[in-house]
Amino acid sequence: MPRKLILDVDTGTDDAVAIMLAALHPELELVGVTTVNGNVEVRYCTDNSLRTLDFIGRSDIPVFEGMARPLVRADFPIPRAVKKSTGVHGLSLDIPDPVSIVQSRSAVEFLIETYRSTTEEIALVPTGPLTNIAAAVALDPKFAERVPEVVIMGGAHHHGNVTPSAEFNIWADADAAASVLAAGFRKLVMVPLDATHEALVSKQACDAMEALGTPAGLAASRFIGRRIKAYDANQPMAEQNAAPVHDAVCVAYLVDPTVITTEHRHVAVETQGALTIGRTVVDINFRGEHPPNCHFAFHADRHKFVAMLLDTFARVAA
Ligand code: BDR
Ligand code: CA
Repeated sequence: MPRKLILDVDTGTDDAVAIMLAALHPELELVGVTTVNGNVEVRYCTDNSLRTLDFIGRSDIPVFEGMARPLVRADFPIPRAVKKSTGVHGLSLDIPDPVSIVQSRSAVEFLIETYRSTTEEIALVPTGPLTNIAAAVALDPKFAERVPEVVIMGGAHHHGNVTPSAEFNIWADADAAASVLAAGFRKLVMVPLDATHEALVSKQACDAMEALGTPAGLAASRFIGRRIKAYDANQPMAEQNAAPVHDAVCVAYLVDPTVITTEHRHVAVETQGALTIGRTVVDINFRGEHPPNCHFAFHADRHKFVAMLLDTFARVAA
């Protein structure tokens, strides 16, 4: 039986790779995609999600548009202004315009109604700011207990990307992230920069994806190629000609949990600090008062991850 999931995305080049992995892997069933303001304005995230699914022949997967602004901080800088200059994403992904259209129900309604009515286990995988998930938690007091597992791309212990202290998804809506971390989800896994920066995809792997000749292989090589150029220029990793593809690591974990190595710790989000807003505070030495609430990934297995991308992108939709 394939494992069911919902992806909550701010598509985005790495979100698009996550969508393709979830939509094409034979052991996964992507039930729906919900979008949120993040890398780009939410309407572009929606358009990018639709065009990705169309391009790989999975237009049957519904897309629901979500929150257009952070939950509380209307004054907070719009995230895209910060991301724009690096060229990691662009506004519209470099594949044809979508033919499919977005669903009329909102993302938050879809999330609440799906988890309220299902008897099946559906993992929830947010790979953008946590605004939709926090809204669902606020609207439905039972939401957190209904979701069997949440796998978040976000946070960092040893790193920061948008500020010296913080990772983008958590920083972009720190209030939402704080409420999700404190919501009491049954199982919460966090895939932070500590792990994703170890799961680099090289230019060589990108070329191998292109050589597959499939829609997913071509799209992945284009999206990851763009990331490699941007990372080499603006945020060099431990090795040149390689870049992280953060969001897809969460999906890979659902297929093979050994793709990451986690520690069970308490994690909270700083929402006030002038220098540290959006920081994930991980109680690595059990110094705080709270019991662990999160399986926090400190490492990732690059070879397993890249092999899974290549195997999956060799496939075409049935
Ligand atoms: C995260 O921020 C977004 O730009 C990416 O899509 C990823 O989810 C990395 O910090
Ligand atoms: Ca993302």
